[in-house]
Amino acid sequence: MKTYLVTGGAGFIGSNFIHYMYRKYDNDIRIINVDCLTYAGNLENLRSVEDRENYSFVKADICDREAIEHIFDENDVDVVVHFAAESHVDRSIRNPEIFVQTNVLGTAVMLNAAKKAWELPDGGFKEGKKFLHVSTDEVYGSLPDDNNAFFYETSPIDPHSPYSASKASSDMLVKAYMDTYHFPANITNCSNNYGPYQFPEKLIPLIINNALQGKKLPVYGDGKNVRDWLYVDDHAKAIDMVIEKGRIGERYNVGGHNEKQNIEIIEIILDTLKEMLDDSDPRKAHINRDLITYVEDRKGHDRRYAIAPDKISKDIGWYPETMFKDGIKLTIKWYFENEKWMKNVTSGEYQKYYNDMYK
Ligand code: NAD
Ligand code: TYD
Repeated sequence: MKTYLVTGGAGFIGSNFIHYMYRKYDNDIRIINVDCLTYAGNLENLRSVEDRENYSFVKADICDREAIEHIFDENDVDVVVHFAAESHVDRSIRNPEIFVQTNVLGTAVMLNAAKKAWELPDGGFKEGKKFLHVSTDEVYGSLPDDNNAFFYETSPIDPHSPYSASKASSDMLVKAYMDTYHFPANITNCSNNYGPYQFPEKLIPLIINNALQGKKLPVYGDGKNVRDWLYVDDHAKAIDMVIEKGRIGERYNVGGHNEKQNIEIIEIILDTLKEMLDDSDPRKAHINRDLITYVEDRKGHDRRYAIAPDKISKDIGWYPETMFKDGIKLTIKWYFENEKWMKNVTSGEYQKYYNDMYK
């Protein structure tokens, strides 16, 4: 039975990944979820798996070397799936240091602990071990408004925000371990995800939540920045496939060929909400385009991201399955059915963040 150590499993993608893996492998795998539960970590996301015998949760900071080494000492970990990170660009612009701490130093701690646990006396590594580093397309910087330009695995690393710089640094550390020690790892660089359990500081859940409450919908700059949106289950599937089939030492881009301007995303969400809400629902009346409010642009705002997923399709057979029109309905349905989740995460600290950010 394979044992996965998932870091950041209480966050958005990590929790979706854990659900995906249990749907696929059920009792044939073991997952240890290590998360220190920052504002973005929420054990509510994992209620339905927490009683499983093949699941355990350890509250620990990835920067805490002793705690992480202890987990490796106590368990024969086969695969590390490293999600834990500070993940929001706007927060990184306001407070870069924690991004360096968690994303760079935390990754160094994880790499060292795995290396120590997996290393053989001859300098090689035990069979079947792998470190999967989950990264972002933002490390490649920004593309021009040209629909024929894409990020490839060979594109230069050119991060602009403190978030993407910290992720690029962590990618480089993983690369250094692969190059120096032949450490068994893969890096995946994925485009923007959306789906259930996403914290409403990110565009899609923020717009859904505000629209349902009749609140203004803040659009940065001219609203024409482009992101390539991927349904989170498709990302989970890509990670699983790279663990199983990815060639050690390789980097894989993961993306949906679903590039849309932010303003288009907002309009689709408004139309879909209108379509899905009952006529009798009082929220329907206040959902309209007048809520769209152009606000000051994000500092250093990357213009366009677009992934060419050719390598992962050709070498591994992965391709995105969920069309945006279907994925956004699944996402909105989930937020309809989980109003309490949204209320819980938007009380307290979130209100403070929102008021500061959008004042
Ligand atoms: P998230 O912010 O929702 O979750 C991050 C999780 O990491 C939280 O549960 C948090 O508690 C935990 N964490 C943070 N600091 C920690 C620490 N020091 N020790 C232990 N746990 C800690 O993030 P997400 O959107 O789920 O992203 C997960 C990963 O995927 C990140 O590495 C991110 O860079 C990458 N990624 C995200 C996207 C996206 O669109 N969200 C796209 C590509 C790649
Ligand atoms: P975000 O979800 O923060 O992801 P990222 O910055 O990692 O791509 O933002 C997605 C896009 O939406 C980005 O171009 C910034 C923009 N945006 C807004 O226009 N308004 C908002 O309130 C937010 C949060 C983002």
